[in-house]
Amino acid sequence: MAHHNVRDKLTDEELEALEAPNPKFIREIPEIYSIGLAKIEAEEAEQVAREKAAKEAQKIAEQERIDAAVAQALANVGATKSTVSTPATVEIPSTVSSIHVDWSKANSTDLNVFYPGTASMEWILGRNHGGKRAFTKGDRCIACHGDEITDIGQAIVSGESDKELEPNIIPGKRGSFPVTINATHDNEYMYLRFSWSEGQHAPVPFVDGGKMDPEHPMKLAFMLATDDVEYADRAGCWATCHADANSMPDTPVKETLIGSDLASRLDLNSGVTKYLAETRTNIELRGRGGKALGGWDKLKDEKAINAVLSKNQFMDLLRYKSGAETVEDGNISKERNMHGGQGAEVEASLKAGIWSVIIKRKLLSDKIGDVSIEAGKVYNFGFAIHDDYSSARYHHVSFGYKLALDNANAEINVKAQ
Ligand code: HEC
Repeated sequence: MAHHNVRDKLTDEELEALEAPNPKFIREIPEIYSIGLAKIEAEEAEQVAREKAAKEAQKIAEQERIDAAVAQALANVGATKSTVSTPATVEIPSTVSSIHVDWSKANSTDLNVFYPGTASMEWILGRNHGGKRAFTKGDRCIACHGDEITDIGQAIVSGESDKELEPNIIPGKRGSFPVTINATHDNEYMYLRFSWSEGQHAPVPFVDGGKMDPEHPMKLAFMLATDDVEYADRAGCWATCHADANSMPDTPVKETLIGSDLASRLDLNSGVTKYLAETRTNIELRGRGGKALGGWDKLKDEKAINAVLSKNQFMDLLRYKSGAETVEDGNISKERNMHGGQGAEVEASLKAGIWSVIIKRKLLSDKIGDVSIEAGKVYNFGFAIHDDYSSARYHHVSFGYKLALDNANAEINVKAQ
């Protein structure tokens, strides 16, 4: 849809006058309406709680069936699992699980992931974002956007938002979808189960065959970081997402990358990856005089980069690719580096239109680039799903959430088995 933004043609004063509430329309709300409203809200809350309880009961029953089937199947068949060292090449039957965990003891959180378009960290900190000021002062994304994720996703994916965050529309693509995360731990491991509905295939009009990544129907990645990473405490993965990354609006042309002095210090083969601002001497936020946003080429020297790592300024990243059935463990600091973590076991299945991805990860690690999860501490958590054969920035992402062991204040409360 072509969109002429009237707001751009007005001065700030005119805009303010236009948007100010009109005193003519202010009315006292009759008490009866307020009472009615409170009643409706209470009923709605009850309804949500009832539905959640029903869903939980269903899941527990399903798990019991699965456990029974596992016990039987294990007697005959060896369980298939995928690890970093031995990627499985067959579809994992969801009824044969080698990850033994009692999901009825897990906590359950429902979150929406949404389509972010080209919204980068530079955009968040730029003048087109209404939340910029409050965000830099400490507000979390979800403080403002937690209840409108569905609307934001739909506005961006459809191209109807006047923020124009998506120049390449994919008709029929979902703006958002709900994901349930079950989380539990024992003495050694954390277990996360992500589940969500597959949705309809929406062919990509600007890609031959309509699938960006035909080999991988789905990819899931999650990241963990401490508060030592700037903005990680409130922005989830956004701290790593820059306007000059691959497939983003200000990404450099291939020739620039190949010819760059930095080609010996960064792996630029598949373009500019995610990176942390801490590893750069400067990040361009304003783009004055046609300057590209971001700072991929402002890499600090190697000594400074090592200092950044030793200050915990990295994001731990774990990624699973369906189709290949591989798990990659890595981190993001000066670039995305998918080698070197302790790894994890992942089992994924697609059954009756529901994806389920179970991750078993050691709580503690002595590997560089891994965040160790300890009792009593709170970590920053975010995740992304590339559904429907998508790739690069055409994914659905979460805002930033808190993850902690046995802590009811954390959105992802990883409960003891
Ligand atoms: C203090 C509140 C506040 C915070 C914190 C905040 N925002 Fe916003 N955001 C807004 C407002 C207000 C708008 C839309 C209105 C405007 O900009 O004119 C907006 C718009 C957006 C949009 C565009 C939606 C559309 O319709 O196209 C995106 C995407 C977005 N914010 C992402 C984020 C992310 C990601 C973070 C955290 C890194 C964040 N916001 C933090 C207030 C906030």
